[in-house]
Amino acid sequence: MLEPEKTYTDLNTSARILLGPGPSMAHPRVLRAMATPLVGHLDPQFLQVMTDVQELLRYAFQTHNHLTIPVSGTGSAGMEAALCNFLEPGDRALVAVMGYFGERLVEMAARYGAQVERIDAPWGQVFDPQEVIDVLKQQPYKLLALVHAETSTGAAQPGIAEIAAAAHAQGTLVVLDTVTSLGTMPVTIDEWDVDVAYSGSQKGLSCPPGLAPLTVNERARAALRARKTPVANWYLDLMAVENYWGETRTYHHTAPISMNFALREGLRMLAEEGLEARWARHRQNAEALWTGLEDLDLPLLVEPPYRLPALTTPRLAPGIEDLPVRKTLLNEYNIEIAGGFGPLAGKVWRIGLMGHSSRKENVVMLLGALREILNR
Ligand SMILES: Cc1ncc(COP(=O)(O)O)c(C=O)c1O
Repeated sequence: MLEPEKTYTDLNTSARILLGPGPSMAHPRVLRAMATPLVGHLDPQFLQVMTDVQELLRYAFQTHNHLTIPVSGTGSAGMEAALCNFLEPGDRALVAVMGYFGERLVEMAARYGAQVERIDAPWGQVFDPQEVIDVLKQQPYKLLALVHAETSTGAAQPGIAEIAAAAHAQGTLVVLDTVTSLGTMPVTIDEWDVDVAYSGSQKGLSCPPGLAPLTVNERARAALRARKTPVANWYLDLMAVENYWGETRTYHHTAPISMNFALREGLRMLAEEGLEARWARHRQNAEALWTGLEDLDLPLLVEPPYRLPALTTPRLAPGIEDLPVRKTLLNEYNIEIAGGFGPLAGKVWRIGLMGHSSRKENVVMLLGALREILNR
């Protein structure tokens, strides 16, 4: 008989102020919703929760897409679903890479057997939409994938509608990563005519990680039905998953019930606040943070028009030690921010103001704490 190695204490984690690239702070209302007693995943009451979540997600994404669901899993599961369903071995895919999550798209698309080509923008910069359009015109691609809000750099790709129109003219589907943009800045899927978009529950939606909102338009659904080979990922196969989330409600896998309670509450709060007010709040708090950081001699990596309201990347002045400052913030002030990675490792911090974390008091607290630490 194997015995437990010790007596384990009650969970006793600190009340952190989460100002990193995600997860952001879950709203107390979301946490309360998660404590709701379970019902079965085919209980009529849960089916109603599913319908509510789908309707609210359509609002969040600004879409009428019927196939709008929370994929079970984190943002990467959404990314995986967005690629594995629309790529078959040998398909040509183009990925516009301007940071780490673009790299992840390249890696995933290749694993599904696609012939992946990439274009790159330096980390911290964005593509001139025309640059992407010119490459799209060179040859037919099945799919173009790009990140709207690159959390590794703090940059927002402009011109999504323009890029999508050019892609469609070539018969190319557009997959857009909105993990950090959904619920923090304008994301208008129907207006932009994006075919497939995915996100995560743990950033702008003020929920814990665990669900990946996904929306798929009719053009992409037709491509799905025209596949010659089965989707290589059983769990994320949308033709099966959509039966559970569609009319028949046929069992596919057991939905994470409590996470759907959470998402419903996070989305209900988004609807109460209203998208435009939500975007304005994120913008306002980000601007206060930007001014405060510049006052502390921490210039920002990204040019103003392309800055994400949800994620700011101040450059570390010479002499500032990345890790010791972040450790002090965490240990003495209970505030979490993150460092850069890849080419930005040791060069920037990544400060998130997303969802319930995007509040004036958090901006003031962080700037005050940084001022104290840097003046020591
Ligand atoms: C832009 C972007 N895409 C994808 C992901 C992956 O999401 P997850 O870590 O929830 O799997 C993240 C996570 O930070 C992200 O910021």
